[in-house]
Amino acid sequence: MTPISAERDAQSIQVAVLGSTGRMGREVTKALEAHPFLSLGAALDRSDLQNLLVAQKKVERCDLFIDFTTMSAQERVMQLLYGQSDTARPLITGVTGLKESAQNELLRYANLAPVFQASNFSIGVALLKRLAALAAESLGDHFDAEIFELHHRHKLDAPSGTALSLAEAVVRGKQLAGDQRAIVKTEATTPRNSSEVHLSAGRGGGVFGDHSLFFLGEHERLELKHAAIDRAVFASGALRAAEWCLERPPGHYQMDHLWDH
Ligand SMILES: NC(=O)c1ccc[n+]([C@@H]2O[C@H](COP(=O)([O-])OP(=O)(O)OC[C@H]3O[C@@H](n4cnc5c(N)ncnc54)[C@H](OP(=O)(O)O)[C@@H]3O)[C@@H](O)[C@H]2O)c1
Repeated sequence: MTPISAERDAQSIQVAVLGSTGRMGREVTKALEAHPFLSLGAALDRSDLQNLLVAQKKVERCDLFIDFTTMSAQERVMQLLYGQSDTARPLITGVTGLKESAQNELLRYANLAPVFQASNFSIGVALLKRLAALAAESLGDHFDAEIFELHHRHKLDAPSGTALSLAEAVVRGKQLAGDQRAIVKTEATTPRNSSEVHLSAGRGGGVFGDHSLFFLGEHERLELKHAAIDRAVFASGALRAAEWCLERPPGHYQMDHLWDH
């Protein structure tokens, strides 16, 4: 397998959207209509993915994949990616709740092509994670960290991938402050200790995604909060990641790379 040609005419970048009938798939398709040089090369729904020959035919002329299926589709998605005999094509994936085996498959594919993975493509959430780590490091063990997330009633996984990565950012901050026992807990225990970063999830209505992080001290409380006010934020972030990947060698990339490079 060879990497995508760097000399390819930017006007002709064709995107295959996996999970095209879903909430995010539809949003990405809409965003592609307005994009200056990425365009919809193929829209694959559940039935396409169930028939690999059909799926392979549809993506034949596509340059990269954007995946917003769900965790249960991952085996099929990987079969489709590996089925491309000539070129390993970049993958931008926003699917959350992946099992360890599916995550390992993604990392393996990242040896062949750029894989950009984000549980949340919002730039605001990417910044929130940085602030979370900084706050945890600065506040140390005098503050307890509690994360609350809210999503629409259809979401399959809980807590959200974003809440988990926010919790991991807090753990990293605590470790930098010297707390090597810092861990993420999805079930609250009492009495709690400040090494535990607690997560709680709520589901209902049409909420696109709200995340709040509290640092609770004895006499004060700090709250960091992000709310997605339109699903379009995730689609435009995914397209931004796609543009970024066109210039990159194989590797596993995340939102932080958008800041660092
Ligand atoms: N990274 C981010 O910024 C971000 C933002 C929002 C959501 N997400 C994540 O993105 C994923 C999709 O979210 P969504 O709200 O768009 O979900 P959704 O509305 O349920 O759409 C999922 C899509 O995948 C298809 N699909 C589901 N299971 C499949 C299977 N086993 N085989 C083949 N196709 C299958 C669905 O087909 P049918 O229509 O036939 O069911 C649909 O087209 C979730 O993991 C969600 O957590 C990420």
